[in-house]
Amino acid sequence: MSATTAHSLTHDAALRRRARAVIPGGMFGHQNAASLPASFPQYLARGDGCHIWDADGNGYIDFMCSYGPIVLGHRHPAVDAAAARQQALADCQNGPSERMVELAELLVDTVDHADWALFAKNGTDATTICVTVARSGTGRKKVLVAKGAYHGAAPWCTPNPRGTTDADRAHLITYEYNDLASVEAAVAEAGDDLAAIVASPFRHDARFDQELVDPEFAVGLRRVCDTYDAALILDDVRCGFRLSLAGSWAPLGVQPDLSAWSKAIANGYALGAVLGNDRFRDGAKRIFVTGSFWFAAVSMAAAVATIETLREVDAVAIMTAAGQRLRDGLAAQAAAHGLAVNQTGPVQMPFLTFAGDEAFAMANVFTGEAATRGVYLHPWHNWFLSAAHTADDVDAALLVTDDAFAAVRRQFG
Ligand SMILES: Cc1ncc(COP(=O)(O)O)c(C=O)c1O
Repeated sequence: MSATTAHSLTHDAALRRRARAVIPGGMFGHQNAASLPASFPQYLARGDGCHIWDADGNGYIDFMCSYGPIVLGHRHPAVDAAAARQQALADCQNGPSERMVELAELLVDTVDHADWALFAKNGTDATTICVTVARSGTGRKKVLVAKGAYHGAAPWCTPNPRGTTDADRAHLITYEYNDLASVEAAVAEAGDDLAAIVASPFRHDARFDQELVDPEFAVGLRRVCDTYDAALILDDVRCGFRLSLAGSWAPLGVQPDLSAWSKAIANGYALGAVLGNDRFRDGAKRIFVTGSFWFAAVSMAAAVATIETLREVDAVAIMTAAGQRLRDGLAAQAAAHGLAVNQTGPVQMPFLTFAGDEAFAMANVFTGEAATRGVYLHPWHNWFLSAAHTADDVDAALLVTDDAFAAVRRQFG
Protein backbone atom coordinates (compact mmCIF):
# COMPACT_ATOMS: atom_id res chain seq x y z
CA MET A 1 0.00 0.00 0.00
CA SER A 2 2.95 2.37 0.53
CA ALA A 3 5.15 4.04 -2.06
CA THR A 4 7.76 1.35 -1.42
CA THR A 5 5.45 -1.52 -2.49
CA ALA A 6 6.77 -3.19 -5.65
CA HIS A 7 4.11 -2.71 -8.32
CA SER A 8 4.23 -5.60 -10.72
CA LEU A 9 1.39 -6.42 -13.11
CA THR A 10 2.64 -9.72 -14.56
CA HIS A 11 -0.43 -11.75 -13.65
CA ASP A 12 -2.61 -8.91 -14.95
CA ALA A 13 -0.67 -8.96 -18.25
CA ALA A 14 -1.19 -12.72 -18.55
CA LEU A 15 -4.93 -12.32 -17.92
CA ARG A 16 -5.11 -9.60 -20.57
CA ARG A 17 -3.39 -11.93 -23.06
CA ARG A 18 -5.84 -14.75 -22.30
CA ALA A 19 -8.77 -12.33 -22.52
CA ARG A 20 -7.77 -11.16 -26.00
CA ALA A 21 -8.43 -14.70 -27.28
CA VAL A 22 -11.89 -15.09 -25.77
CA ILE A 23 -13.31 -11.57 -25.20
CA PRO A 24 -13.69 -9.22 -28.21
CA GLY A 25 -10.90 -6.66 -27.98
CA GLY A 26 -9.86 -8.17 -24.67
CA MET A 27 -12.28 -5.86 -22.85
CA PHE A 28 -15.38 -3.84 -23.63
CA GLY A 29 -16.87 -0.47 -22.81
CA HIS A 30 -15.15 2.01 -20.56
CA GLN A 31 -12.81 -0.68 -19.22
CA ASN A 32 -11.30 -1.02 -22.69
CA ALA A 33 -7.65 -1.76 -22.06
CA ALA A 34 -6.46 1.35 -23.89
CA SER A 35 -8.45 3.73 -21.72
CA LEU A 36 -6.16 3.91 -18.67
CA PRO A 37 -2.39 4.37 -18.23
CA ALA A 38 -0.36 1.15 -18.32
CA SER A 39 0.31 1.20 -14.58
CA PHE A 40 -3.39 0.63 -13.86
CA PRO A 41 -4.39 -3.00 -13.37
CA GLN A 42 -7.29 -4.33 -15.39
CA TYR A 43 -8.07 -7.23 -13.06
CA LEU A 44 -8.96 -6.78 -9.41
CA ALA A 45 -9.02 -9.46 -6.74
CA ARG A 46 -10.61 -8.06 -3.59
CA GLY A 47 -11.69 -5.04 -1.61
CA ASP A 48 -12.11 -3.99 2.00
CA GLY A 49 -13.42 -0.59 3.09
CA CYS A 50 -11.69 1.97 0.87
CA HIS A 51 -8.88 -0.43 -0.06
CA ILE A 52 -8.65 -2.68 -3.10
CA TRP A 53 -6.11 -5.24 -4.29
CA ASP A 54 -5.43 -6.20 -7.88
CA ALA A 55 -4.87 -9.66 -9.33
CA ASP A 56 -1.12 -9.35 -8.65
CA GLY A 57 -1.71 -8.48 -5.00
CA ASN A 58 -0.91 -4.75 -5.26
CA GLY A 59 -2.99 -2.66 -2.85
CA TYR A 60 -4.60 0.71 -3.53
CA ILE A 61 -6.58 3.32 -1.65
CA ASP A 62 -9.65 3.34 -3.89
CA PHE A 63 -11.02 6.70 -5.05
CA MET A 64 -13.22 5.23 -7.80
CA CYS A 65 -15.47 3.06 -5.62
CA SER A 66 -16.28 0.82 -8.61
CA TYR A 67 -17.33 3.98 -10.53
CA GLY A 68 -19.82 4.82 -7.79
CA PRO A 69 -21.58 1.76 -6.37
CA ILE A 70 -19.35 1.37 -3.31
CA VAL A 71 -20.75 4.15 -1.13
CA LEU A 72 -20.17 2.59 2.31
CA GLY A 73 -16.92 0.78 1.51
CA HIS A 74 -16.13 -2.61 -0.01
CA ARG A 75 -17.57 -5.60 1.88
CA HIS A 76 -19.51 -3.46 4.32
CA PRO A 77 -20.38 -5.78 7.25
CA ALA A 78 -24.03 -4.76 7.72
CA VAL A 79 -24.76 -4.87 3.98
CA ASP A 80 -22.99 -8.18 3.44
CA ALA A 81 -24.71 -9.70 6.50
CA ALA A 82 -28.14 -8.68 5.19
CA ALA A 83 -27.25 -10.10 1.77
CA ALA A 84 -26.00 -13.34 3.33
CA ARG A 85 -29.19 -13.72 5.41
CA GLN A 86 -31.26 -13.38 2.25
CA GLN A 87 -28.93 -15.66 0.26
CA ALA A 88 -29.48 -18.37 2.85
CA LEU A 89 -33.22 -18.21 2.03
CA ALA A 90 -33.24 -17.62 -1.73
CA ASP A 91 -32.22 -15.06 -4.30
CA CYS A 92 -33.71 -15.60 -7.77
CA GLN A 93 -37.20 -17.12 -7.54
CA ASN A 94 -40.49 -17.21 -9.46
CA GLY A 95 -41.39 -13.90 -7.87
CA PRO A 96 -39.94 -11.24 -5.58
CA SER A 97 -39.46 -11.68 -1.85
CA GLU A 98 -40.94 -9.33 0.73
CA ARG A 99 -37.63 -7.41 0.60
CA MET A 100 -39.02 -5.70 -2.52
CA VAL A 101 -41.91 -4.13 -0.62
CA GLU A 102 -39.64 -3.14 2.28
CA LEU A 103 -37.21 -1.54 -0.15
CA ALA A 104 -39.91 0.36 -2.05
CA GLU A 105 -41.29 1.65 1.27
CA LEU A 106 -37.83 2.71 2.41
CA LEU A 107 -37.07 4.52 -0.86
CA VAL A 108 -40.42 6.33 -0.80
CA ASP A 109 -39.69 7.35 2.80
CA THR A 110 -36.14 8.50 1.96
CA VAL A 111 -36.40 10.26 -1.41
CA ASP A 112 -38.59 13.36 -1.31
CA HIS A 113 -40.30 13.21 -4.69
CA ALA A 114 -40.99 9.46 -4.66
CA ASP A 115 -44.49 8.01 -4.27
CA TRP A 116 -43.59 4.66 -5.82
CA ALA A 117 -40.61 2.57 -6.91
CA LEU A 118 -39.90 -0.17 -9.39
CA PHE A 119 -36.73 -2.15 -9.80
CA ALA A 120 -34.29 -3.36 -12.43
CA LYS A 121 -30.59 -4.16 -12.52
CA ASN A 122 -28.60 -1.30 -14.02
CA GLY A 123 -28.56 2.45 -14.45
CA THR A 124 -29.29 2.03 -18.16
CA ASP A 125 -32.42 0.04 -17.27
CA ALA A 126 -33.48 2.84 -14.94
CA THR A 127 -32.99 5.74 -17.36
CA THR A 128 -34.63 3.77 -20.18
CA ILE A 129 -37.65 2.96 -17.99
CA CYS A 130 -37.94 6.63 -16.95
CA VAL A 131 -38.16 7.66 -20.60
CA THR A 132 -40.66 4.87 -21.32
CA VAL A 133 -42.85 5.85 -18.35
CA ALA A 134 -42.73 9.52 -19.40
CA ARG A 135 -43.89 8.63 -22.92
CA SER A 136 -46.52 6.27 -21.54
CA GLY A 137 -47.79 8.90 -19.11
CA THR A 138 -47.87 11.82 -21.53
CA GLY A 139 -48.70 9.99 -24.74
CA ARG A 140 -45.91 11.99 -26.42
CA LYS A 141 -42.56 11.07 -27.95
CA LYS A 142 -39.93 13.85 -27.80
CA VAL A 143 -37.30 13.71 -25.08
CA LEU A 144 -34.75 16.43 -24.35
CA VAL A 145 -31.26 15.38 -23.23
CA ALA A 146 -28.18 17.50 -22.51
CA LYS A 147 -25.55 17.43 -25.22
CA GLY A 148 -22.72 15.06 -24.22
CA ALA A 149 -24.51 13.66 -21.15
CA TYR A 150 -24.19 9.96 -20.38
CA HIS A 151 -27.41 8.12 -19.56
CA GLY A 152 -26.28 4.57 -20.31
CA ALA A 153 -25.35 2.15 -23.07
CA ALA A 154 -28.74 1.33 -24.66
CA PRO A 155 -29.26 2.19 -28.35
CA TRP A 156 -31.22 5.38 -27.50
CA CYS A 157 -28.43 6.83 -25.35
CA THR A 158 -25.07 5.14 -26.06
CA PRO A 159 -22.24 7.60 -26.75
CA ASN A 160 -21.00 5.27 -29.52
CA PRO A 161 -23.87 4.82 -31.99
CA ARG A 162 -22.14 2.10 -34.00
CA GLY A 163 -24.59 -0.76 -34.35
CA THR A 164 -27.62 1.41 -33.65
CA THR A 165 -29.97 3.09 -36.14
CA ASP A 166 -31.01 6.72 -36.53
CA ALA A 167 -34.49 5.58 -35.58
CA ASP A 168 -33.23 4.65 -32.09
CA ARG A 169 -32.65 8.36 -31.38
CA ALA A 170 -35.24 9.82 -33.72
CA HIS A 171 -37.16 11.51 -30.92
CA LEU A 172 -34.24 12.92 -28.93
CA ILE A 173 -33.50 16.65 -29.00
CA THR A 174 -30.41 18.07 -27.29
CA TYR A 175 -29.94 21.15 -25.15
CA GLU A 176 -26.90 22.69 -23.42
CA TYR A 177 -26.63 21.97 -19.69
CA ASN A 178 -27.20 25.10 -17.55
CA ASP A 179 -28.56 27.04 -20.57
CA LEU A 180 -32.31 27.66 -20.32
CA ALA A 181 -32.44 29.44 -23.67
CA SER A 182 -31.21 26.25 -25.37
CA VAL A 183 -33.90 24.30 -23.48
CA GLU A 184 -36.58 26.72 -24.74
CA ALA A 185 -35.30 26.25 -28.30
CA ALA A 186 -35.40 22.46 -27.91
CA VAL A 187 -38.92 22.67 -26.45
CA ALA A 188 -40.01 24.73 -29.46
CA GLU A 189 -38.57 22.05 -31.75
CA ALA A 190 -40.54 19.38 -29.86
CA GLY A 191 -43.77 21.31 -30.55
CA ASP A 192 -46.77 19.63 -28.96
CA ASP A 193 -44.95 16.31 -28.66
CA LEU A 194 -42.74 16.95 -25.59
CA ALA A 195 -42.72 13.94 -23.24
CA ALA A 196 -39.76 14.66 -20.96
CA ILE A 197 -36.61 16.55 -20.15
CA VAL A 198 -33.76 14.41 -18.80
CA ALA A 199 -31.07 16.05 -16.66
CA SER A 200 -28.23 14.89 -14.45
CA PRO A 201 -27.92 16.60 -11.03
CA PHE A 202 -24.80 18.41 -12.25
CA ARG A 203 -22.76 18.23 -15.44
CA HIS A 204 -20.45 15.25 -14.99
CA ASP A 205 -19.56 14.35 -18.57
CA ALA A 206 -16.37 12.26 -18.74
CA ARG A 207 -13.28 14.09 -20.09
CA PHE A 208 -14.60 17.53 -19.04
CA ASP A 209 -14.29 19.58 -15.90
CA GLN A 210 -17.45 19.08 -13.89
CA GLU A 211 -20.01 21.90 -13.71
CA LEU A 212 -22.38 22.34 -10.79
CA VAL A 213 -26.01 23.00 -11.64
CA ASP A 214 -27.14 26.61 -11.61
CA PRO A 215 -30.10 26.46 -9.18
CA GLU A 216 -32.05 28.76 -11.50
CA PHE A 217 -31.53 26.26 -14.30
CA ALA A 218 -32.98 23.45 -12.19
CA VAL A 219 -35.95 25.64 -11.20
CA GLY A 220 -36.32 26.63 -14.86
CA LEU A 221 -36.46 22.98 -16.02
CA ARG A 222 -39.20 22.30 -13.47
CA ARG A 223 -41.13 25.35 -14.71
CA VAL A 224 -40.79 24.32 -18.38
CA CYS A 225 -42.00 20.79 -17.60
CA ASP A 226 -44.97 22.17 -15.68
CA THR A 227 -45.83 24.60 -18.46
CA TYR A 228 -45.79 21.92 -21.15
CA ASP A 229 -47.09 19.10 -18.97
CA ALA A 230 -43.94 17.07 -19.57
CA ALA A 231 -41.98 14.86 -17.16
CA LEU A 232 -38.83 16.12 -15.46
CA ILE A 233 -36.50 13.12 -15.24
CA LEU A 234 -33.48 13.36 -12.92
CA ASP A 235 -30.76 10.88 -13.79
CA ASP A 236 -29.47 10.25 -10.27
CA VAL A 237 -27.63 7.06 -11.27
CA ARG A 238 -24.16 8.51 -10.63
CA CYS A 239 -24.86 11.09 -7.89
CA GLY A 240 -27.63 9.27 -6.01
CA PHE A 241 -27.05 9.12 -2.22
CA ARG A 242 -23.74 11.01 -2.43
CA LEU A 243 -25.13 14.56 -2.51
CA SER A 244 -28.34 14.12 -0.50
CA LEU A 245 -30.29 11.08 0.63
CA ALA A 246 -33.51 12.91 -0.27
CA GLY A 247 -32.53 13.08 -3.95
CA SER A 248 -29.81 15.21 -5.49
CA TRP A 249 -32.01 18.22 -6.26
CA ALA A 250 -33.94 18.08 -2.97
CA PRO A 251 -31.59 20.67 -1.38
CA LEU A 252 -32.52 23.02 -4.25
CA GLY A 253 -36.23 22.47 -3.63
CA VAL A 254 -36.64 21.06 -7.15
CA GLN A 255 -38.54 17.78 -7.35
CA PRO A 256 -38.40 15.65 -10.49
CA ASP A 257 -41.38 13.57 -11.60
CA LEU A 258 -39.20 10.54 -12.24
CA SER A 259 -35.69 9.67 -11.13
CA ALA A 260 -33.27 6.95 -12.20
CA TRP A 261 -31.09 5.19 -9.64
CA SER A 262 -28.55 2.39 -9.54
CA LYS A 263 -24.85 2.49 -8.58
CA ALA A 264 -24.83 3.36 -4.85
CA ILE A 265 -28.26 2.11 -3.78
CA ALA A 266 -27.08 -1.38 -2.82
CA ASN A 267 -23.37 -0.74 -2.08
CA GLY A 268 -22.19 -2.81 -5.01
CA TYR A 269 -24.99 -5.39 -5.34
CA ALA A 270 -26.61 -5.20 -8.78
CA LEU A 271 -29.78 -3.13 -8.61
CA GLY A 272 -31.47 -0.33 -10.49
CA ALA A 273 -34.53 1.63 -9.41
CA VAL A 274 -37.00 4.05 -10.91
CA LEU A 275 -38.76 6.37 -8.50
CA GLY A 276 -41.80 8.36 -9.51
CA ASN A 277 -44.56 10.62 -8.27
CA ASP A 278 -48.29 9.96 -8.37
CA ARG A 279 -48.67 11.90 -11.61
CA PHE A 280 -46.77 9.13 -13.42
CA ARG A 281 -48.12 6.15 -11.48
CA ASP A 282 -50.61 5.27 -14.23
CA GLY A 283 -48.00 5.73 -16.93
CA ALA A 284 -45.79 3.27 -15.05
CA LYS A 285 -48.66 0.81 -14.61
CA ARG A 286 -49.27 0.61 -18.34
CA ILE A 287 -45.74 -0.29 -19.55
CA PHE A 288 -44.19 -3.76 -19.72
CA VAL A 289 -40.71 -3.97 -18.24
CA THR A 290 -39.10 -6.98 -16.60
CA GLY A 291 -36.00 -9.16 -16.52
CA SER A 292 -35.05 -12.64 -15.37
CA PHE A 293 -33.04 -11.25 -12.45
CA TRP A 294 -35.01 -8.10 -11.67
CA PHE A 295 -36.78 -9.63 -8.67
CA ALA A 296 -33.68 -11.18 -7.14
CA ALA A 297 -33.88 -10.68 -3.40
CA VAL A 298 -30.23 -10.54 -2.29
CA SER A 299 -29.52 -7.17 -3.91
CA MET A 300 -32.77 -5.81 -2.46
CA ALA A 301 -31.82 -6.97 1.03
CA ALA A 302 -28.43 -5.32 0.47
CA ALA A 303 -30.16 -2.11 -0.64
CA VAL A 304 -32.33 -1.99 2.49
CA ALA A 305 -29.22 -2.37 4.68
CA THR A 306 -27.31 0.18 2.59
CA ILE A 307 -29.98 2.86 2.84
CA GLU A 308 -30.54 2.25 6.56
CA THR A 309 -26.78 2.55 7.16
CA LEU A 310 -26.45 5.67 4.97
CA ARG A 311 -29.15 7.28 7.11
CA GLU A 312 -27.73 6.06 10.44
CA VAL A 313 -24.14 7.20 9.95
CA ASP A 314 -24.90 10.40 7.99
CA ALA A 315 -22.81 9.11 5.14
CA VAL A 316 -23.11 12.29 3.07
CA ALA A 317 -21.45 14.29 5.87
CA ILE A 318 -18.64 11.73 6.17
CA MET A 319 -17.99 11.77 2.41
CA THR A 320 -18.11 15.56 2.35
CA ALA A 321 -15.52 15.85 5.14
CA ALA A 322 -13.16 13.33 3.52
CA GLY A 323 -13.66 14.88 0.08
CA GLN A 324 -12.94 18.38 1.38
CA ARG A 325 -9.76 17.16 3.05
CA LEU A 326 -8.65 15.59 -0.23
CA ARG A 327 -9.48 18.72 -2.23
CA ASP A 328 -7.68 21.05 0.17
CA GLY A 329 -4.65 18.77 0.29
CA LEU A 330 -4.44 18.45 -3.50
CA ALA A 331 -4.83 22.21 -3.94
CA ALA A 332 -1.96 22.92 -1.54
CA GLN A 333 0.27 20.31 -3.18
CA ALA A 334 -0.42 21.49 -6.74
CA ALA A 335 0.38 25.06 -5.70
CA ALA A 336 3.58 23.97 -3.96
CA HIS A 337 4.68 22.18 -7.15
CA GLY A 338 3.77 25.21 -9.27
CA LEU A 339 1.10 23.26 -11.18
CA ALA A 340 -2.19 24.87 -12.25
CA VAL A 341 -5.06 22.43 -11.67
CA ASN A 342 -8.85 22.57 -11.84
CA GLN A 343 -10.73 20.72 -9.12
CA THR A 344 -14.40 20.56 -9.98
CA GLY A 345 -17.69 19.02 -8.88
CA PRO A 346 -18.91 18.30 -5.35
CA VAL A 347 -16.09 17.17 -3.03
CA GLN A 348 -17.81 13.76 -2.63
CA MET A 349 -17.39 13.27 -6.41
CA PRO A 350 -14.14 15.09 -7.10
CA PHE A 351 -12.24 15.51 -10.33
CA LEU A 352 -8.87 17.06 -11.08
CA THR A 353 -7.52 18.21 -14.42
CA PHE A 354 -4.36 20.13 -15.28
CA ALA A 355 -4.73 23.52 -16.98
CA GLY A 356 -4.19 23.23 -20.73
CA ASP A 357 -3.90 19.43 -20.58
CA GLU A 358 -6.43 18.78 -23.37
CA ALA A 359 -4.99 15.39 -24.30
CA PHE A 360 -4.85 14.29 -20.62
CA ALA A 361 -1.09 13.67 -20.91
CA MET A 362 -0.38 15.25 -17.51
CA ALA A 363 -3.42 13.54 -15.99
CA ASN A 364 -2.14 10.19 -17.27
CA VAL A 365 1.23 10.73 -15.62
CA PHE A 366 -0.38 11.94 -12.39
CA THR A 367 -2.87 9.11 -12.03
CA GLY A 368 -0.42 6.54 -13.45
CA GLU A 369 2.19 7.50 -10.84
CA ALA A 370 -0.45 7.44 -8.12
CA ALA A 371 -1.52 3.93 -9.21
CA THR A 372 2.06 2.68 -9.14
CA ARG A 373 2.33 4.00 -5.59
CA GLY A 374 -0.98 2.61 -4.34
CA VAL A 375 -3.68 5.22 -4.94
CA TYR A 376 -6.42 4.47 -7.50
CA LEU A 377 -7.64 7.69 -9.17
CA HIS A 378 -8.76 8.24 -12.78
CA PRO A 379 -7.35 10.53 -15.48
CA TRP A 380 -10.60 11.51 -17.24
CA HIS A 381 -13.59 10.36 -15.20
CA ASN A 382 -14.77 11.86 -11.92
CA TRP A 383 -13.68 10.12 -8.72
CA PHE A 384 -15.85 8.95 -5.81
CA LEU A 385 -15.52 9.12 -2.04
CA SER A 386 -17.19 6.57 0.21
CA ALA A 387 -18.17 6.65 3.87
CA ALA A 388 -15.23 4.29 4.49
CA HIS A 389 -12.64 6.98 3.67
CA THR A 390 -11.19 8.30 6.91
CA ALA A 391 -8.99 11.35 7.40
CA ASP A 392 -6.04 8.94 7.79
CA ASP A 393 -6.83 7.30 4.44
CA VAL A 394 -6.97 10.69 2.74
CA ASP A 395 -3.69 11.73 4.38
CA ALA A 396 -2.05 8.48 3.26
CA ALA A 397 -3.28 9.12 -0.28
CA LEU A 398 -1.95 12.67 -0.15
CA LEU A 399 1.55 11.39 0.61
CA VAL A 400 1.34 9.55 -2.71
CA THR A 401 -0.22 12.38 -4.72
CA ASP A 402 2.61 14.67 -3.62
CA ASP A 403 5.05 12.30 -5.37
CA ALA A 404 2.71 12.06 -8.35
CA PHE A 405 2.61 15.87 -8.71
CA ALA A 406 6.41 15.87 -8.50
CA ALA A 407 6.53 13.36 -11.37
CA VAL A 408 4.25 15.60 -13.47
CA ARG A 409 6.47 18.58 -12.70
CA ARG A 410 9.61 16.66 -13.70
CA GLN A 411 8.10 15.48 -16.96
CA PHE A 412 6.30 18.64 -18.04
CA GLY A 413 8.39 21.37 -16.38
C1 LIG B 1 -25.47 9.43 -15.04
C2 LIG B 1 -25.50 8.00 -15.46
N1 LIG B 1 -26.63 7.49 -15.98
C3 LIG B 1 -26.73 6.21 -16.36
C4 LIG B 1 -25.65 5.37 -16.26
C5 LIG B 1 -25.77 3.94 -16.71
O1 LIG B 1 -25.66 3.09 -15.63
P1 LIG B 1 -25.21 1.56 -15.82
O2 LIG B 1 -23.78 1.60 -16.23
O3 LIG B 1 -25.42 0.94 -14.49
O4 LIG B 1 -26.09 0.99 -16.86
C6 LIG B 1 -24.45 5.85 -15.72
C7 LIG B 1 -23.28 4.97 -15.60
O5 LIG B 1 -22.18 5.39 -15.40
C8 LIG B 1 -24.37 7.20 -15.33
O6 LIG B 1 -23.25 7.71 -14.80
